[in-house]
Amino acid sequence: MDKFGGLWGWVPFWSVLLLSSGLGVMPQAQGWSKEGHIMTCQIAQALLEPEAAEAVHNLLPHYVNGNLSALCVWPDQIRHWYRYRWTSPLHFIDTLDDACTFEYSRDCHDSHGLKNMCVAGAIQNFTSQLLHYREGTGDRRYNMTEALLFLSHFMGDIHQPLHVGFTTDEGGNTIELRWFRHKSNLHHVWDREIIQTALADYYDKDIDLLLQDIEGNYTDGIWSDDVSSWKQCNDLSSCINRWAAESINIACKWGYKGVEAGETLADDYFNSRMPYVMKRIAQGGVRLAMILNQIFGDPEEGFSAAT
Ligand SMILES: *[C@@H]1O[C@H](CO)[C@@H](O)[C@H](O)[C@H]1NC(C)=O
Ligand SMILES: *[C@@H]1O[C@H](CO)[C@@H](O)[C@H](O)[C@H]1NC(C)=O
Ligand SMILES: *[C@@H]1O[C@H](CO)[C@@H](O)[C@H](O)[C@H]1NC(C)=O
Ligand SMILES: *[C@@H]1O[C@H](CO)[C@@H](O)[C@H](O)[C@H]1NC(C)=O
Ligand SMILES: [Zn+2]
Repeated sequence: MDKFGGLWGWVPFWSVLLLSSGLGVMPQAQGWSKEGHIMTCQIAQALLEPEAAEAVHNLLPHYVNGNLSALCVWPDQIRHWYRYRWTSPLHFIDTLDDACTFEYSRDCHDSHGLKNMCVAGAIQNFTSQLLHYREGTGDRRYNMTEALLFLSHFMGDIHQPLHVGFTTDEGGNTIELRWFRHKSNLHHVWDREIIQTALADYYDKDIDLLLQDIEGNYTDGIWSDDVSSWKQCNDLSSCINRWAAESINIACKWGYKGVEAGETLADDYFNSRMPYVMKRIAQGGVRLAMILNQIFGDPEEGFSAAT
C-alpha cells in the first residue's frame, strides 16, 4: 500500500522526535488519502501571496522547513487520541439520505445532534480563529498552528465528494465492493483507490509528476479558465455551503449512481471518475490559498474577524 515514499519515510523519525510535542504521527488514513491532502496543500502553498506565505512559515514547527503539506495529514492521525476526540466529526458531513443536497442547519451536526460539528462548521471555526493571528502572541485563545493544520486538512476533506455523503451508509463506508481485484468500499475508492490507481497507471507512482500535471491543468490547461470562478468568494459561510453542495452533487451523480454493494468497480468507473477526483484536489488547493491569502493579507480586503 504505502509504496510512495514521501510522508511514510518520515514516520519513525517523527514519532520518536515529536510524540512529546503533540505532533506525533500514527500510520492511519482517513479522508483524502495522504496523497490527496499533500497535493491539496502543495497546490495551496504555491499560490500564497507574500504575507500569507510568511505567516504560514511562522506558524509551522521548524522541523518541517516551511513545508505545509508535510503536516496536512496530521488531523487524521490524531483524531482518535483522547485529547482530540472532539475533532472526529469535523472531517465530514452526513447529509439526508438520497436528498443529494446540503443544508447547513439540517446536516451540519455530529451524531448526537450537536450543531456546527461537521466539516463545514470546522472550516468556519478555524478560519475565525486564524483571523486573530495578527493581534499578536499575547492574547491568543487558540493554538494558531493547530488552527492552520485543521483548516488546511478540512479544506481537502470538504472537496472529497464522499465526505459529504449519505448518513445511513456513512458516506459510502458501509458499501463494500471490490476495486479491481482487492476488497474495498465506496468511500475508500474516492479517498484513495482512484488516486493510487492513477499514480500507478499514469505517473510512475510519483506524486510529484501527478502534481505537476494537475498544476499544468489549472495554470495552462483544461481548468485555467475556471480558476477565477473557483476562488470567487465574498461571504465565506455561503462559499463553504456551496463547496459542500458541489461535493454531495458529485457524490450522487458519480459516486453512488449505479453502484451496488458487492460488485467490482474497474476500468469504466476509474476512467470516468478520475477527472472529478483530480479537479476536486485542484479546487481544494486553490480555495485553501484564497482563504489563507484573505486571512493573512490586507485586513481591509479580506474576511473580517467576527469575534
Ligand atoms: C500548538 O499545538 C502544537 C501541536 O499540538 C503543539 O506542538 C504546540 O506546542 C502548541 N503551541 C502552543 C503555544 O501551545
Ligand atoms: C513537502 O512535504 C511533502 C509531504 O511529506 C513531500 O511530498 C514534498 O516533497 C515536500 N516538499 C519539499 C519541497 O520538501
Ligand atoms: C472550534 O474549535 C474549538 C477549539 O479550538 C473547539 O472546541 C470547537 O469544538 C470547534 N468547533 C467546530 C465547529 O469546529
Ligand atoms: C490534465 O489534462 C489532460 C488533458 O489535457 C488530461 O488528459 C489529464 O488527465 C489531466 N490531468 C489531471 C491530473 O487531471
Ligand atoms: Zn480528514
